[in-house]
Amino acid sequence: MTRYNRRDRYYQKAKDDQYAARSVYKLEEIDRRHRLIKQGHNLVDLGSSPGSWLQYLSKAVGKKGVIVGYDLVEPSVNPGPQARTFVASVDELTPERVQADLQKARQEIVGLSGAPLVDGLVSDMAPKLTGVRDADQVKSVGLATQALLLAEALVRPEGYFVAKLFQGREIDELVLGVKRVFAEVKMLKPEATRDGSREAFIIGRSRRPLA
Ligand SMILES: C[S@@+](CC[C@H](N)C(=O)[O-])C[C@H]1O[C@@H](n2cnc3c(N)ncnc32)[C@H](O)[C@@H]1O
Repeated sequence: MTRYNRRDRYYQKAKDDQYAARSVYKLEEIDRRHRLIKQGHNLVDLGSSPGSWLQYLSKAVGKKGVIVGYDLVEPSVNPGPQARTFVASVDELTPERVQADLQKARQEIVGLSGAPLVDGLVSDMAPKLTGVRDADQVKSVGLATQALLLAEALVRPEGYFVAKLFQGREIDELVLGVKRVFAEVKMLKPEATRDGSREAFIIGRSRRPLA
């Protein structure tokens, strides 16, 4: 099957499966290969609209788990019973704000009080493309770096991190940063990624103990 047909297949499959976007199959592949998301997990999803990752995560964490999602725009679908969404840029987010949102969401959805541990932070954030490849790439690494800073502050020991980035300049520094926080680091270009795209995902597992 050619890349084109495969691309078409994912688009159609997302429609058939009632997911908001084909992006869900990237997360599904990451999760299948790395076995990250478990029932009861408390998660942060950055760049969460139109909402397909939230739909997937909401099922994956089950009735005891919670996800807080942030994006510049509202999701276009119901993100699922375990998720709460907020319109916000990652620039505005502080670890304290995210922790407070998660705590409130967990209280409302699961009925548990107290500060939840964050099991994982995932980011599918992508800049608005300008067509200038280098500029777009640098912006994408910037977004992944902001995601890493939040993950470093929030994710519990042994927890995980997933972030989209466009491969190219400045990626080495980001990879080093992820390695500093997570003991196992891998890159993955999922099958559902568009042909010719430099998009890949960096995956950090086993968050190192807090200093
Ligand atoms: C590829 S889409 C995410 C798709 C989503 N994971 C899904 O499955 O439906 C990338 C998203 O990143 C968001 N984004 C870009 N810059 C952002 C920022 N500074 N803060 C938060 N979200 C941002 C965009 O608004 C866009 O919705």
